[in-house]
Amino acid sequence: MEREGKSSGISDVERAIGEALLRWYETHRRDLPWRRRQDPYAVWVAEAMLQQTRVETVIPYYERFLARFPTLQDLAAAPLEEVLKAWEGLGYYARARHLHEAARRLMEERGGEFPRTLAEWRRLPGVGPYMAAAILSIAFGQDLIALDGNAIRVLARLFAFEQDPRRPAGRRQLQQRAERLLPSGQAGAFNQALMDLGATLCTPKSPRCPECPLRAFCAAYAQGNPEAFPVRAPRRMLPHYDVTAGVIEADGRVLIAQRPLQGMLGGLWEFPGGKVEPGESLEDCLRRELREELGIEVEVGEPLLTLRHTYTHMRITLHVFRCRILSGTPQPIGCADVRWVPIAELDRYAFPRTDQRIVEWLRQEGSSSLTRQTTGRSRT
Ligand code: ADE
Repeated sequence: MEREGKSSGISDVERAIGEALLRWYETHRRDLPWRRRQDPYAVWVAEAMLQQTRVETVIPYYERFLARFPTLQDLAAAPLEEVLKAWEGLGYYARARHLHEAARRLMEERGGEFPRTLAEWRRLPGVGPYMAAAILSIAFGQDLIALDGNAIRVLARLFAFEQDPRRPAGRRQLQQRAERLLPSGQAGAFNQALMDLGATLCTPKSPRCPECPLRAFCAAYAQGNPEAFPVRAPRRMLPHYDVTAGVIEADGRVLIAQRPLQGMLGGLWEFPGGKVEPGESLEDCLRRELREELGIEVEVGEPLLTLRHTYTHMRITLHVFRCRILSGTPQPIGCADVRWVPIAELDRYAFPRTDQRIVEWLRQEGSSSLTRQTTGRSRT
């Protein structure tokens, strides 16, 4: 692949950096499952999973997902429910819904042929500039820079970059400087080499500079302060919400509700409940939510669990209570569906992480004969 202007104005140092990086990658690249196949589908699934999740966490999910949906056709033909089930536990479920929707569109609109341009990839749901560039560079060899968090750290140190690369202007500048280092035709290896260098040597804390192939070129190393980069603006505090959920059992089955298909955690199943309003008690909140969502009146019984969870944009404390229906039959009024499910069959449904912990608890010690109060505290 040619890149316009690539040969003009590149200094010897810039060329030497690119070459040193690629040489290092040849012998030090991580053996990751998505690097064993070159096809765009495999790269795309990997990039979707890796977008918010660590490599070690992704590997078993990736292998199971590719075994279950080996090709674009298989994914497009599968029901969303099965795709969400395969994604269960990875979090950020919009990624799975987008991947599935995009697979269907590619099959319907392009007969399963993958796009070859940034603009076409970007039109697919869930594909941002990073992912589009990663797929096109890794699977199609196009000369495009794709910087993940690890790569950004490597470059910020290499240049002793004074701007915050999380800000759009800083990010653009860093990207432009990276483009000058890119050896033509090698973008897939170049991008992944930066990622691997960041993941293995140029780590956030205690980078292993003596082993680094770029040490001789690294401005932060020369200054003696690699850990000071990338520079960061102070983190904003995440808002916190109290949320309630009810465990309602009858005849050996528990009641679960499916979240609306659009929006946060869309399509996943949960123990019904919702956010506490200002001035509201936990019990009042749960009675109100079950009335609004399912059209039932309940008695709120013993507290079962208290679970903490941090999402990208908020923290929650989930207060789980046992409940008993006083009147009404559950209807999907404020949710997509409701079901009564035996505890042993709950694992057929895809739940958010917090609700999975309720399922685990129910399986282990939560049978309805149990009256002991148990409180679990955890944070993910
Ligand atoms: N993170 C995102 N994409 C990656 C890739 N292709 N290899 C390693 N880590 C990654």
